Amino acid sequence: MEVRLAKSAGFCFGVKRAVEQVYNQAENGKAIYTYGPIIHNEEVVKDLEQKGVSVIDDDSLSSVKEGTVIIRSHGVEKAVCDRIQEMGLECVDATCPFVKRIHRVVEKESTAGKQIIIIGSANHPEVIGIMGWSSTPAIVIETEEEAEKFTLEEEKDICVVSQTTFNYIKFNKIVEKLLKKGYNVGVVNTICNATEERQTEAREIAREADVMIVIGGKHSSNTRKLYEICAKECEHTYFIQTLADLKLELPESVGLVGITAGASTPNNIIEEVQNYVRINF
Ligand code: F3S
Repeated sequence: MEVRLAKSAGFCFGVKRAVEQVYNQAENGKAIYTYGPIIHNEEVVKDLEQKGVSVIDDDSLSSVKEGTVIIRSHGVEKAVCDRIQEMGLECVDATCPFVKRIHRVVEKESTAGKQIIIIGSANHPEVIGIMGWSSTPAIVIETEEEAEKFTLEEEKDICVVSQTTFNYIKFNKIVEKLLKKGYNVGVVNTICNATEERQTEAREIAREADVMIVIGGKHSSNTRKLYEICAKECEHTYFIQTLADLKLELPESVGLVGITAGASTPNNIIEEVQNYVRINF
């Protein structure tokens, strides 16, 4: 029986990089804070807590007197970075370089007088962060209807960017609507394909697999999506959080067991499941 683990299972490049930076900083023995949970995974956050890493938010930041504050991969508004530095704290910016690129584009183009439009969800932390790099108020558009209704009060050129995890097809449809309005629109496609790659690979493995295991948090929407994709292709698809949930009943003749994991599933959990399946079946 073959066990095939998706190469794109688990953390993407940006999250992996951010988590590693927190673990590295935690070794220094200084007080370490992350601005928001570094990833949405309770086990990782708990493990970091034991190593002296606390999670803070905008309110609790005021009470921090010394130490290092780490910015997570989503990034934050410019004002947050400035505030941390003004407080005399050390700021370690673990913003994903793909998100940082959006910050730079937005800062530059808004300073040059362009209207910034961000295609994404207005309440997503990444989008809130991006908005905070625009020198003039940015506009967020999430749906085609919103794009349809959009008008610009002032005569201005427009610069369009996207939340990194936005759906590419939806992004194109919204851009098309904006272009039809006759404005001078410059579009910078800032979608990151880590999510899509993970989904495509999961689909391909599930198509061939007799059993498919999807690992990730119950409340993680990207893991749920992975599960749905795999369940469509493979009748015996399991959704588990950790190895403890795995009650594997293999059909009689199993040639291939596929494994994938959501974006916030740490490597050790993936490996545990993989080893268990390899050894026990
Ligand atoms: Fe991950 Fe960075 Fe893409 S955090 S999803 S690699 S934008």
